[in-house]
Amino acid sequence: MSACHYTSSELHKLDSKHLRLNQAQWEIVKELGINRKKRTRRGCRAGRRKIPTFVNMATTTEANGGNQIIADVKDYYGKVLKSSDDLKTPVCCTRPLNMSKNVRDALAQIHEEVQNRYYGCGLCIPTCLEGAKVLDLGSGAGRDCYLLSKLVGENGHVTGIDMTDEQLNVARKYKDFHSQLFGHKSSNVEFLFGYIEKLTEAGIKENFFDIIVSNCVVNLSPDKKTVLQEAFRALKEGGELYFSDVYADRPVSEDLRQNKVLWGECLSGALTWTDLVNFAKEVGFSPPRLVSAAPIDITNPEIVKLVGDMKFISVTCRLFKLPANKEPSGEVIYEGTVTDHPDSLNMDISSTFKANCPSYVDSTMATILKCSRYADDFTFNTGGPSEAKKACQPQKLDCTMDPFVYLETKPVASGCGPKSSGKCC
Ligand SMILES: C[S@@+](CC[C@H](N)C(=O)[O-])C[C@H]1O[C@@H](n2cnc3c(N)ncnc32)[C@H](O)[C@@H]1O
Repeated sequence: MSACHYTSSELHKLDSKHLRLNQAQWEIVKELGINRKKRTRRGCRAGRRKIPTFVNMATTTEANGGNQIIADVKDYYGKVLKSSDDLKTPVCCTRPLNMSKNVRDALAQIHEEVQNRYYGCGLCIPTCLEGAKVLDLGSGAGRDCYLLSKLVGENGHVTGIDMTDEQLNVARKYKDFHSQLFGHKSSNVEFLFGYIEKLTEAGIKENFFDIIVSNCVVNLSPDKKTVLQEAFRALKEGGELYFSDVYADRPVSEDLRQNKVLWGECLSGALTWTDLVNFAKEVGFSPPRLVSAAPIDITNPEIVKLVGDMKFISVTCRLFKLPANKEPSGEVIYEGTVTDHPDSLNMDISSTFKANCPSYVDSTMATILKCSRYADDFTFNTGGPSEAKKACQPQKLDCTMDPFVYLETKPVASGCGPKSSGKCC
């Protein structure tokens, strides 16, 4: 970390413009500066108290305890950020590409205040949603919950869980607005206060949900493996965790992990892809299947200085909870019945099923299709000889490949438009 420090009087002379902070952030800096001054007095040279720069003094570590991280993140999303304009990087507001028409139409109906407090990093809206029970981990102001509310329809249900009251208050405020807009007799959405590491404590049932989504939240948790364990417990067999998050190309250094703002901005808590693969395996999920990946362009010079040549990407992937006994590999035919996808159905970067065309699938994909909500949209001729090996084959990419490698092999447009501010697109 930089050795640059300010004396307390120098700190007070700086203004928010100088450090490019908004008023709320600046209040926190001042507050932290004063606290830090008290704590570090003994270690300082006479007359020059070591009060680090904004970035250095925003300190928190997992060693301090997960509780401190939770408190800091809560503060960041409750008090510091008021809208996506307050973000210092584009990480938590990437613009997802390839939305289907239904999703675009639903998005256009979401209330402006909810949209303004959207801090996601991908599109966490899977296909085949009608009637599904969905849980959103870290639902924030509720944008994805309301999108899902429309897409699951009146026979489905969406539960959002979040630990930040300010976020929950915005989300809850627009329940009636959206249910009326979507023509639902009563709202099919609920927002619970709770921690994603403690779903049981929040009253989330076991083996209950078809889908769990999460948009740019798991990285913020000090205990990601527990989050996956809890999600696994809450899912039905055949259910899936479909989530977007930030990944780093190497383990994040301890210095960066101690940075409270960068933790809040979804960088310092980023996992490597290998970490995710290992956690998924330990918890019992199928290997993460890549849906999309996009580079994150960090242009804020202060942050660029801190992260150096580290690369961060946002990735959407799906992890299924499958039965121990797998289906045999073989032939399947997509019937063209999933809403909005009459011609073909895309499951991940390597599996696109053309309607009415036999495809050969391995045992894992056969199990996913047969045990999940997709079962009625396919005919299965698995376990026998297949003609499909030669025709209508899904692409040959490995959907469990490292997304950094995927992006090198198959560069895709960044999820964020070129904006010189380095802020949200
Ligand atoms: C980056 S925002 C994303 C919010 C929302 N998913 C969206 O796309 O707008 C992170 C959200 O996760 C919540 N959060 C972070 N850590 C959490 C935890 N351990 N338990 C519950 N909520 C958490 C925060 O309160 C915040 O609302």
